[in-house]
Amino acid sequence: MSSRSKSTAAITRLILKAAEDARKETGDEPDSFVVSRVEWPVPCTVGPGLEGAIACESKVGFVNGSRGRLSYRGYDIFDLSANSTYEEVAYLLLHGHLPTTGQLERFSRKLNDYLAIPQTIRTLASFPIEEMHTMAAVRLGTNLLRREWTTLDLESGRPDTSRAIGSDEDSIAMETLPRGEERAIYEFKGDKRDDEVLDSCSRLISGLAALTAAVARLGKGRLPISPRPDLSHAGNFLYMMTGETPTAEQERIMDIALILHADHGMNASTFASLVVASTLSDIYSSVSAGIGALTGPLHGGANEQVVLMLREIGTPANVKDWCEKTLSRRGGRIMGVGHRVYKAYDPRARVLAPVAKYLARKNAAVKPLYGVAVRLEKEAVSRLGTKGIFPNVDFFSGMVYSGIGIPDNMFTPIFAVSRVAGWTARIHEYLQNNRIFRPRAMYSGPVGREYEPIAQRDKAASEQAASASSSSDK
Ligand code: SDX
Repeated sequence: MSSRSKSTAAITRLILKAAEDARKETGDEPDSFVVSRVEWPVPCTVGPGLEGAIACESKVGFVNGSRGRLSYRGYDIFDLSANSTYEEVAYLLLHGHLPTTGQLERFSRKLNDYLAIPQTIRTLASFPIEEMHTMAAVRLGTNLLRREWTTLDLESGRPDTSRAIGSDEDSIAMETLPRGEERAIYEFKGDKRDDEVLDSCSRLISGLAALTAAVARLGKGRLPISPRPDLSHAGNFLYMMTGETPTAEQERIMDIALILHADHGMNASTFASLVVASTLSDIYSSVSAGIGALTGPLHGGANEQVVLMLREIGTPANVKDWCEKTLSRRGGRIMGVGHRVYKAYDPRARVLAPVAKYLARKNAAVKPLYGVAVRLEKEAVSRLGTKGIFPNVDFFSGMVYSGIGIPDNMFTPIFAVSRVAGWTARIHEYLQNNRIFRPRAMYSGPVGREYEPIAQRDKAASEQAASASSSSDK
């Protein structure tokens, strides 16, 4: 076996072991809450931030939060990480089935071709990228890509909304079915542009990889690099970012990270992209909305915060005191820990933890971080595990990226480079039977107030100020 495949085989063994441990710990029976078809309206208990709300029906991916399991189109994430590639997983998310050799070759060729976006990159380079947050730069680049590729700005590209059906009763609670059609307005059946939407998905999957690599280089005052036809998507992404041909190990680890982050149910950035798409805006604006949501430290930005947190703690000996201080502070959070859906170990953390350990053994940048992380993981689980709070994907992903030479400020953009497959697959799915997102708010404000002319308001305010100052003089 060549040294190339020896090192990648060692990484595959780590994943298979993680899968075996997860199945031992959480059981291996199929998920029970999968339904064959959703009969709307669906009763659900909803909290602030739409916690518990069911936004739509989907076949793209499933997160089993109680058992800590994740699957894409029915394939378990452990099997995909061990056996698949990002190209194959992106095809699976978009088309609903794993590709044949011919389908994968054509799709991979298209992704490789779409990595070349010279006009967009040239325009991006005219902006002061070195002064921008990397996610803001990637979002800017996505909007420049829109200028080059969206068809919606052409008259021929505009969706034909004359076929939207029903009369909208959006302001009426779903307790009473809206009048007119059996569903409320803005239902927009999928149309002939299906292949164009799918083509835009591929353009965005490759576009975000090319833009992120260019942002990494422009941010350091270097020129962007064109893709190579002989490299995989993960390999090209690393090459276009660093200018070096990645080792087999670096490419394999990057590919695993892209697979792990590709889709994750109705998370904030996926939901944001769907909300924009549901207005029949264009898919580039929808993905830009997803990038904006992913930027936040409670979502995709956590991976960068974790590495900063581990460096701040410094040594394992400081973990206990640091936790004490952080958790006693109102709203104090251990970054990379906890999850809205997972109340068990995040399966993606189960895959990345041994990869981080593997890299720590051979990488001076990761070794100290990993030592602190192991101690912090134990401390966090002992304090918060009973509340269903465990490490999530972000707890280890930053260390893994550091271990393959990626700078901190690129960690969250890499999340977008991967998640764009899930965003676009779910946008494509939702547009087949679109309905504009328009939730409600519970009003708790005042009612029936009389309008007072401003002179009256000023008089009342000065009387109030006068009485306040006289009572303070007593
Ligand atoms: C991602 O949704 C997805 O799928 C996201 C994602 C994806 O792939 O798209 O999985 C990627 O975003 C992972 C999460 C990355 N973020 C972080 O690691 C930031 C730290 N984690 C938290 O801020 C928090 O756990 C959230 C935001 C992830 C989830 O928070 P929730 O579900 O809104 O929970 P909450 O804030 O209401 O907290 C519930 C309780 C609170 O305690 P009480 O006030 O009830 O006593 O749990 C506590 C919180 O204090 N808690 C934490 C904690 N997370 C929750 N306490 C300490 N540290 C934490 N990290």
